[in-house]
Amino acid sequence: MLICQNDGSYEVSAPAKLNLFLEILGKRADGYHELETLMVTVSLHDSLYFRVPETRGISLRNYWCGVQNAGLSGRDLPVGSQNLIVKAAELLLQSTGTTQGAQIDLFKRIPLAAGLAGGSSDAAAALVGLNQLWNLKLSPADLREIGAKLGSDVPFFLAESAAALCRGRGEIIESVKLPSVLHFVIAKPAVGLSTAQVFQHCNPASVPKTAEGMVRSLQCGDLSGIAAQLMNRLGGPAERLCPELNELSKVFARLPVEGHLMSGSGTSYFGLCRHQQQAKHLAGRLTMLGLGSVYAVQTCI
Ligand code: C5P
Repeated sequence: MLICQNDGSYEVSAPAKLNLFLEILGKRADGYHELETLMVTVSLHDSLYFRVPETRGISLRNYWCGVQNAGLSGRDLPVGSQNLIVKAAELLLQSTGTTQGAQIDLFKRIPLAAGLAGGSSDAAAALVGLNQLWNLKLSPADLREIGAKLGSDVPFFLAESAAALCRGRGEIIESVKLPSVLHFVIAKPAVGLSTAQVFQHCNPASVPKTAEGMVRSLQCGDLSGIAAQLMNRLGGPAERLCPELNELSKVFARLPVEGHLMSGSGTSYFGLCRHQQQAKHLAGRLTMLGLGSVYAVQTCI
């Protein structure tokens, strides 16, 4: 997460993620599911700006940037204490005892209810930005521990890895080195899905698949190997809850991509491309088809 200091203010970039592999190993006593998932951060990102406020307290303003079909609640992103950024700030105040305030400006590009973890990434960015703004000197490990209380995907974004194998409920992170950049085209239909609802309708695999093959293919930069290992156990329940996903899958099956998959709990769908030019070309085609918000992205370096 890039941090730039400008006159005592900080800018943090909050990338979206894609799940290239997601297996459900079991249901836990705490209601969460035990996962094995391979996530990559991509160039589609929100930007957060942090500065000391004129008055006390935490204040969040949201500006939509180029989100055509934002998702479930559209343009009404909450900016009060339901927002994960504000929750992150409040948790930091609570756990450090600091009484400082913050003005936070969010420039939102990642669509909502998309399986791209925009909210979790924003929360991670808030922890990083406020740690700097308030000079808290919390270590990356401290931030990850606080982040895990905010959401299962938050620690991944705090690990600063372009790719990682995530286990537990998602908070146990093992970085994976990518030898080269991967390119994707993403389509997010107007309809969105709630993560909790999709998990409620999923069943753990009776014979779980392992991400080992995916990790090996990623480490070798073997595009066809990566394509062959793409897997998301949440795809079935998401399709049953949202039949539009089935249509989207058929559209992607007709594209000349290496492979395609739904990300996380949906509803974003992505295609693995050979290079940037192909991702941009296919983004143009998908946009013409009116499939919602479409992005050509690459993995973060
Ligand atoms: O952790 P987070 O708040 O992002 O998760 C949202 C919801 O997704 C949880 O309330 C839970 O219902 C579900 N979930 C799950 N198992 C996981 C991660 C999330 O059941 N490993």
